[in-house]
Amino acid sequence: MLRSVMLTAARSGAMRGLVEANPLTRTVVDRFVAGSDSREAIGVTARLAEEGLQVTLDHLGEDTTDATRADDTVRAYQGLLSELHHAGLADRAEVSVKLSAVGQQLSPDGEKIALDNARRICESAAAVGTTVTLDMEDHTTTDMTLRTLSDLRVDFPWVGAVLQAYLHRTEQDCRDLATAGSRVRLCKGAYSEPASVAFQDKQEVDRSYVRCMRALMAGGGHPMIATHDPRMIAIATELAQRHGRGADSYEFQMLYGIRPAEQRRIAAAGHNLRVYVPYGEEWYGYFMRRLAERPANIGFFLRSLLTR
Ligand code: FDA
Repeated sequence: MLRSVMLTAARSGAMRGLVEANPLTRTVVDRFVAGSDSREAIGVTARLAEEGLQVTLDHLGEDTTDATRADDTVRAYQGLLSELHHAGLADRAEVSVKLSAVGQQLSPDGEKIALDNARRICESAAAVGTTVTLDMEDHTTTDMTLRTLSDLRVDFPWVGAVLQAYLHRTEQDCRDLATAGSRVRLCKGAYSEPASVAFQDKQEVDRSYVRCMRALMAGGGHPMIATHDPRMIAIATELAQRHGRGADSYEFQMLYGIRPAEQRRIAAAGHNLRVYVPYGEEWYGYFMRRLAERPANIGFFLRSLLTR
């Protein structure tokens, strides 16, 4: 219930105004967001790389309804990729892109605009020798995003995408994408979705996550196990062993600011661990989804507003 209220608020302009206007919000945002510009994000990336972690960088922004802003987002990613290269970090860090930030929602041909814009980002990533992963947004965009993935992979076979275990369709999507060269980031799913398309019960989502991991680990692709859930991580480790996978044929991924000690422990145990590092001014939607994931976060946020 609280989760769905928070996720509705994540898309409310009025709530956004209230939360952003509060000067105390920033201290809580900083736990999940690595700064407001690429310079700060590169600094965090360098620190994580020194600790043996890999990174995927997200220039925050979503649901863009303006072609100029979509173009600005492409330029921001191009600048970021060039800075990563000059900092000697392009072998440790890739980028994650939300297609709604590069024009997917623009009418009448948002899908084509997003494809062209994502292609420009992929060209810049290819030029510095790194990769791109497409984030997954609400279920109304899943087919579009998978079509864009398929188009991009013709020229850039290393482009990856996120699949969300809470969707009924995802086990089959995992089977379809568990092929050589394919990179799938498997997460549980962070949006408010109806029962007609998504499991509502946490245990059902977890069971689906396990079935999806089984399909990915048994296949020929590179599974990216994106979760903070210790049970899922233990099962993934066991599945990787069962399928004779070497450490470089799969990886674990977690969000910046969530279970950081566990991130280092997993890397120290010899696994690849990639941290998803968001940065930028457009943090509202991302931040609200992080609050919604855990009731304790909401309490922490409210207390921080009331006690200062
Ligand atoms: P679960 O929610 O069961 O949490 C397991 C444990 O992790 C909790 O008990 C708690 O200890 C800790 N934890 C989890 N979330 C926390 C939080 N916000 N604050 C503090 N502790 C927390 N979703 C999506 O729909 N589209 C996408 O593209 C992506 N991309 C993505 C990339 C990466 C690298 C990750 C790790 C996650 C995503 N997600 C996502 C988010 C994902 O769908 C999911 O909402 C969160 O990862 C939380 O789910 P867990 O798998 O961690 O399990």
